Amino acid sequence: MTLAKRLENLGGETAFAVSLAAAAWAAKGNKVYPFHLGDINIPTAPNIMDAAYKAMKDGKTGYVPSAGIMPLRELMAADVGSRRGLHYTAENVAVQPGGKPVIGKFIQTVMNPGDEVLYPSPGYPIYESMIDYYGGVAKPYRYIETGKGFALDLDYLRSLITPKTKALIFNNCQNPLAAESDRAEIEAVAKITIEHNLMVLADDAYEQMRYSGKTEYIANVPGMYERTVTLYTFSKKYAMTGWRLGAAIGPKPVIDAISQLNVNDESCTANFVQWAGVAALTGDQSYEAQTLETLRQRRDAAVNILSTIKGIRVAKPESTFYLFPNVTEAMHRRGFEDVNEFATAALHNTNVSICTRRHFGRSQPNEVQQYVRFAYSGIDVENIQEGLTRLKAWIES
Ligand SMILES: Cc1ncc(COP(=O)(O)O)c(C=O)c1O
Repeated sequence: MTLAKRLENLGGETAFAVSLAAAAWAAKGNKVYPFHLGDINIPTAPNIMDAAYKAMKDGKTGYVPSAGIMPLRELMAADVGSRRGLHYTAENVAVQPGGKPVIGKFIQTVMNPGDEVLYPSPGYPIYESMIDYYGGVAKPYRYIETGKGFALDLDYLRSLITPKTKALIFNNCQNPLAAESDRAEIEAVAKITIEHNLMVLADDAYEQMRYSGKTEYIANVPGMYERTVTLYTFSKKYAMTGWRLGAAIGPKPVIDAISQLNVNDESCTANFVQWAGVAALTGDQSYEAQTLETLRQRRDAAVNILSTIKGIRVAKPESTFYLFPNVTEAMHRRGFEDVNEFATAALHNTNVSICTRRHFGRSQPNEVQQYVRFAYSGIDVENIQEGLTRLKAWIES
């Protein structure tokens, strides 16, 4: 059998290999501490589940328009618009089966083969995969570790731009870095995209996963409304990862094109799932506030222990549910040069399962510092403490 050549360019989420290794280790009778999962081990709110059952019982089981049901599009336009101080209508919203499909559809809509697209690395690995797959040139930009977390390397970003650069992918409240841009950094990125007439994908998947402060948006910098497509998802805030519900929100011509891709791909997002989305947006938000409080406790528990481990440097981010500590010195203490080997040894010696920088896009030239990612969305405080205490004992022994 000969498969299509273009598949050679298709990437994926290599972090799934970490899940397989963790499962294999657990199958041998070990208690694994799952810090590798970007999923949430908290169920979706009861009012959202009830709305889905009711919608099914009410016969909302057939096809719906490709861009989504009107009540959901209207609600999302108002919800996403109000947080950004922008005016969107239903025409600016194309409902999707999750936030992830927005990435490939954005690329297909704005990029021609040979065009260059800027994206963060470390970053969500699907950006790179989709740019490569659709024949673009993937150009990773980078962040620099600061005392408080990570800052975008703006000079480096500027140096990557050529006449062929067509688009930029920007993930504020970033996976895996948990990096956040302040207003000045966002405005600097916006200025670059305006100067070079780039389209922008604002991946705002984690915009509402925050413990203090306020999320800044690139879409509302003057001159950005017309060039920004926002990726919205119900996965994180509403703990609806498996439901598959999200949207692309942006200028009508792009949204129309994305809706046309919906026609060709999935026809529509599941009817009753969209009604569950209506319930999520209109319902009482206290369950979600409690989820966030639970995550805050987990973050504190994880940072409290990680920050005491010799050879680990960790920041305390105010958003996402990730930590991205520098483990260079800890690795050397244990005699490792390779970060993936270090993570595998950590699993086998302490049962702590983690992803590494290598699971989040191509390396940059001259990367010497080594990082791993801890996700605390799928593990409770007691197990965070137990697992990280074991990790500390191993690294410091
Ligand atoms: C940065 C980022 N963008 C988008 C997504 C897509 O999430 P979903 O497809 O579940 O909405 C994720 C999921 O982990 C993510 O981390």
